[in-house]
Amino acid sequence: MKIAIVGSGSIGAAWAITFARAGHEVCVHDVDPTKLDSLNTNLINRLDFLSAEGMLTEEPRKIVGRISTTTDLGECVANAEYVQECAPEKVELKEAIFEDLDRLTSSAVILASSSSALGASKFNAKMKHPERAIVVHPGNPPYLLSIAEVVPSDVTSPEVVIATMELLTQVGMHPVQVKKEIEGFVFNRLQGAILREAYALVRDGVISPREIDIIMTQGLGKRWAVLGPFGTSSLNAQGGIRDHASRMGESYFRMGKERNQNDPWTPDLVEKVAEDMGEIFQVADWEANVEKRDRALAEINKLIATSKNFNFYENS
Ligand SMILES: NC(=O)c1ccc[n+]([C@@H]2O[C@H](COP(=O)([O-])OP(=O)(O)OC[C@H]3O[C@@H](n4cnc5c(N)ncnc54)[C@H](O)[C@@H]3O)[C@@H](O)[C@H]2O)c1
Repeated sequence: MKIAIVGSGSIGAAWAITFARAGHEVCVHDVDPTKLDSLNTNLINRLDFLSAEGMLTEEPRKIVGRISTTTDLGECVANAEYVQECAPEKVELKEAIFEDLDRLTSSAVILASSSSALGASKFNAKMKHPERAIVVHPGNPPYLLSIAEVVPSDVTSPEVVIATMELLTQVGMHPVQVKKEIEGFVFNRLQGAILREAYALVRDGVISPREIDIIMTQGLGKRWAVLGPFGTSSLNAQGGIRDHASRMGESYFRMGKERNQNDPWTPDLVEKVAEDMGEIFQVADWEANVEKRDRALAEINKLIATSKNFNFYENS
């Protein structure tokens, strides 16, 4: 399949690698020719790195051979079946680009934006076929984090959502569908919740910024590499999510209230989470799952102990 990428900055280059690594022909467009001049070296450096890490099945130069560049948007999108827009996060700019893409491509082509916070409804107004505009927001860089939030607007067609999810899966991503457009989507909302609290704790003299980072890297980060917040809660109390919520819900509610948040874990909400998570973390398997978690944590600890790349905070 031919993939067109619009914008050759950090995300555009990373998407080019992700799609070309999976065998697709990729054309990258940028309005700034100097950006395209340096792209090839940038791509080779990143691919050489992935190759040295044993993460490629082909020679880097073979993969780069599938990536072409042009300052001509029409040439870039000609015969493309999927476009990934990676221009700066400015609503007027994305609106103009999507208007051009709508004009230059057939209505069967999926037009995806890497937007970090703007939903497609913010920039699809000038399109004749807004049903093919969708946000595909990657973790950076997608060839290592491999998560992408797929966010349809209220007019994006279900077929576009399905085809986008399939393509992302085929290129090795773990696409997650966000059901409603919401500012910041989910990745940045979760990150934002942590950052908000971290800033408030530093402001209030509770802890230093470096110590926040140590709590994250030595504690929550290790844990979250193995289990998400709901998986963690499922194993932090022997009775699973319901048990955890009954033990901890009020305390977390009081902490939220201190920050003017009024989001209690209501019984129906806890039930909804417990039902979904219960399929993975059966209470009857609690001990076996705890053992499995601990084995994973032991592996992470061994990796950290033997690697030179986990020592950002060593001399703090
Ligand atoms: N950097 C991140 O960590 C990250 C993560 C996820 C999503 N995103 C999103 O991805 C998008 C791109 O971010 P980035 O960090 O790669 O930006 P960047 O500034 O590194 O790159 C943007 C590129 O777009 C080019 N450009 C500007 N106008 C253009 C136009 N009209 N047509 C074609 N190209 C044009 C610029 O010359 C530049 O090379 C943004 O929406 C951003 O929010 C960024």
